This record gives sequence, C-alpha cells and structure tokens, in this order.
Amino acid sequence: MTPEARLLRRLRDHPGQSVDQLAAACRTSTDLVLARLAEWRSLGFDILEHPSGGVHLLAVPDRLIPEDIASLLPEDQAPPRVLVFQSTASTNDLAEREALAGAPHGLVVLAETQEEGRGRLGRPWHSAPGLGLWMSILLRPVWPASRAGSLTLAAALAVADATEALCPIHTRIKWPNDVLVDGRKLAGILTETRFQDGRLSHAVVGIGINVSQGTTDFPPELRTIATSLALASTPAPRRAELAAIVWQRLAAWCAAPPDVLLAAWRDRCDTLGRQVRARCAGRLIEGTAHSVDESGSLLVRIESGSLVPILAGDIVHLT
Ligand code: BTN
Repeated sequence: MTPEARLLRRLRDHPGQSVDQLAAACRTSTDLVLARLAEWRSLGFDILEHPSGGVHLLAVPDRLIPEDIASLLPEDQAPPRVLVFQSTASTNDLAEREALAGAPHGLVVLAETQEEGRGRLGRPWHSAPGLGLWMSILLRPVWPASRAGSLTLAAALAVADATEALCPIHTRIKWPNDVLVDGRKLAGILTETRFQDGRLSHAVVGIGINVSQGTTDFPPELRTIATSLALASTPAPRRAELAAIVWQRLAAWCAAPPDVLLAAWRDRCDTLGRQVRARCAGRLIEGTAHSVDESGSLLVRIESGSLVPILAGDIVHLT
C-alpha cells in the first residue's frame, strides 16, 4: 500500500491527529503529508486542519482516485495497482495493453468516460462521463481454459454483492452477464480472455455499472431497459467505494471452489427455470434454462429432452 493510501486510511480511522503524528504513523515525511492534504483539497476533499485539534477528513468527493480506492480495503486485500484515466477508448484495451507489458494479477483500470466503450457481441457501451463505474480488472488465475467462462459468473456475483452492500436494492443475474434490478439492466460484463498452451494466460474483466444516471442520461433506446443505482435507490454511492468492493468480491469469488461459485451464481440467477430463446452460432434454440456448468455454459433442455450447451450468445427470457 502506498504512503498516500495509508495516509487516507489513517485520516478516516484516527480523526484529529497532528501532521507529525500522521507522518510517523504512515512512515512518511511531514512534507508528503502536507503536499497530499493540499492536493486532495484541490480535488474537492473537505479537510479541516485545526491548530490544536489536528486534521479531520470531513467529506470525500465522488472522484476516482487510486489511493482512495486502495485505502478503503484492508492492506492485504487492496489491488496491487490502480490506473485512472479521464477519458479513453475502452478500459479493456488499456488493461490488455498493460497485461501484455507484464502488469500484475489484480490490476484495475478505470476511466471517467470511454469514447468507444464496448459491450458483448460487438455492441457499443454507453459510458457517460462521471455517471458510471467503467472498470477493467486484469486477472491471471491459474485455471484450465475450460473454466474461463466462470470469470464472467464471478464478476456478475461481485457486482451483485457490491451494489447490494452499498444500496438497499435486490439484484438478479440474467445469464451470462447482465445484473438486473427490477428487470432492468444495471450492469454488464465483458470478459476478454487469452490462452496459451491450453491454459488461460490472462483475462480482462470489463465491468460497466450505471451509477448516477437519470432516465434522460440514457440514449432513448435504452430508457425502458436500463437503470442506475441512483434510479433504483437514491442517493448513489461513491464510485471509489463501489470499485473497492467489486474488486474485493471478485478476488474472493475467483478464489472460491468452483462448486461454491456455481451454487452462489445459481441462487442469484434470474434465467434458470425459464423458457428461453438463445441465438447461438446462427442457430435459434428454444427450451427451458436447466442449469449452468463449470465452463459458464447455459444448458437448455429442448423439446426432444436433450440438453444443449450454450457457451456464448444472447438469450431472451420468454417466460
Ligand atoms: C455488456 O453488457 O454487453 C458488457 C458491457 C461491459 C462494459 C464495460 S465498461 C468497462 C469495460 N470497457 C469496455 O469497453 N467495456 C467494459
């Protein structure tokens, strides 16, 4: 953890310490403490420095600041690196670039806005400035290639856990990657994987969560099918807190035994048991969504009674 993250954590947990006490506790210099306090104030932090009463952190803005995210988690559970961009084409592209340059497991890439945010099946992903959490996480799990699809399930669970931890909402998951509130899409996941010698070499898990959009912030075609945390439960949480918990929960779900992950996902799933129509490799398949296997495939029972695995694609709930 960086001295900056330690300092922010110290300010939260021990209000009223002097600058000297803060520097000593964070194993850094008073100059660094004073410089960071000035920088954070300029970014909108409300920090009170009282000559005899020490330093008090009164409010933190809804900005994406690496040390803020790291400071919200226990030291051994914080991401190894967090990169924040004001604007980029897609955080998934940046995470992939970092992956190829050797970045560590757990790297987080965030952007205030994406010019070419993308969703599954080549669809665009609307990434309005400051209104959502546009986040990519680099994972290097030591998993067989056949389990790669489970990463999307783990990410959907992490998003469901994190949003429910911060907001009084109830989320469901539509296979494979949509997190829904009241039947509307709150978040989506785009997992991009690379393989080497039959093993998963790394994956970039791209997560888009709608946070503070009002209805008219969505393009007209999405207004009846999308929602945001602000629309589902006011007020919206701070995106730094959301990012920290998503990361922590994703790390936990990736470490969970496969059967535990699958059982938790099935509990949250809105698809199983429904009549569904799937479009898969140009074929239309209709039947009952029966289960999900370890590869993340949806097994659909068709009229003949056999189970057809859908590895990727799009489904429509018919009932
Ligand atoms: C979907 O539901 O189709 C998936 C949407 C994934 C969007 C996220 S936002 C962060 C990351 N960067 C992207 O370009 N896409 C993902």
